[in-house]
Amino acid sequence: MPQPNAMHCLVVDDEPRLRRVLVRLLEGEGFVCREAGSGTEALELMRHEPVPLVISDLRMPQMDGVTLLREVISRWPDTAVIVVTAVAEVESAVACLQLGALDYVAKPFHLDEVRARVMQALDKRRLILENRMYQEQLEQRVQEQARRIEELSLERLQALVHALEEKDPYLRGHSVRVANYAFGIGRELGLAPAALDLISMGAELHDLGKIGVSEAVLHKPGKLTDVEYRHIMEHPVTGARILGPLMRDAPVALAIVRSHHERLDGKGFPDGLKGDEIPLEVRIVTVADSFDAMTSLRPYRPALSVANAMDQLEEGKGRQFDQGAVQAFLRAFPDAASLPVASPEARPLHLPTPVAVRRS
Ligand SMILES: [Fe+2]
Repeated sequence: MPQPNAMHCLVVDDEPRLRRVLVRLLEGEGFVCREAGSGTEALELMRHEPVPLVISDLRMPQMDGVTLLREVISRWPDTAVIVVTAVAEVESAVACLQLGALDYVAKPFHLDEVRARVMQALDKRRLILENRMYQEQLEQRVQEQARRIEELSLERLQALVHALEEKDPYLRGHSVRVANYAFGIGRELGLAPAALDLISMGAELHDLGKIGVSEAVLHKPGKLTDVEYRHIMEHPVTGARILGPLMRDAPVALAIVRSHHERLDGKGFPDGLKGDEIPLEVRIVTVADSFDAMTSLRPYRPALSVANAMDQLEEGKGRQFDQGAVQAFLRAFPDAASLPVASPEARPLHLPTPVAVRRS
């Protein structure tokens, strides 16, 4: 009786007598053997039940052993193949090794020799499989570590954005509010959770490039000169340059950082993208960012009221802002009380202070 975990093998030879010799030998070693009289029959058996070991004669009618070897290696690469050759076929045996056979046995063979070759071939197969598994696990671990490092770096950058905003009374809480607004718009538009996560990530980091803008320009109380305006408007490119290496797997979030000042009519910064050239996720964040900027106090102007900012969004629909994103914004935040606006003066006095929009 074979053991329940016995190794299975397939013996292929057109001569029944030789097949039986090999089968008896292998069964004596505890193998469970199947027999095939031709290459075609062997492939049919393998198709139904692949085995880890095939011992095959080289010279057979219909399909020779080399063709069978090629088929087995390409369809069942984990199967070990040993070819049985005549002494005069050494060249063929070498060709078989080059094709991927693990070993060969020359006829007439000694049973001890066959036994030793089979065991060696199976050892070699086991090492190959273990090595491959190790490589795969190693690759997976390296990928996991790389992802974790990127996550940690992005978390550090988020903390940096929040620290920058804390220092600046005009920007305090801006990135979180923009992320909340953008999340609400995206959810209203029926975007999948994975897309909403990318929108939130991009929105929270969208102004990271302001780290490169001079504070004197950022806080200038009066109107900006052209040069100062161009200096401020470098921040999307600076942000994308900083985040590019960390957002290789999140091109949408990176696009949000680079393109959140683009306009549908092509008059935006930095690339003058038009209409559908701007990804939907970016158009969503642009609406969220503009609304929060309008309802926030600036050194050079008071905050707009919610109603006024809503009117501005309506007015810019189709030219500056995506129509669907603006409508979704109005649906997602139907009244001023549902908005975590920055400036108290943006909110009518009789309304209660809102809590932040929940992301769920
Ligand atoms: Fe910005």
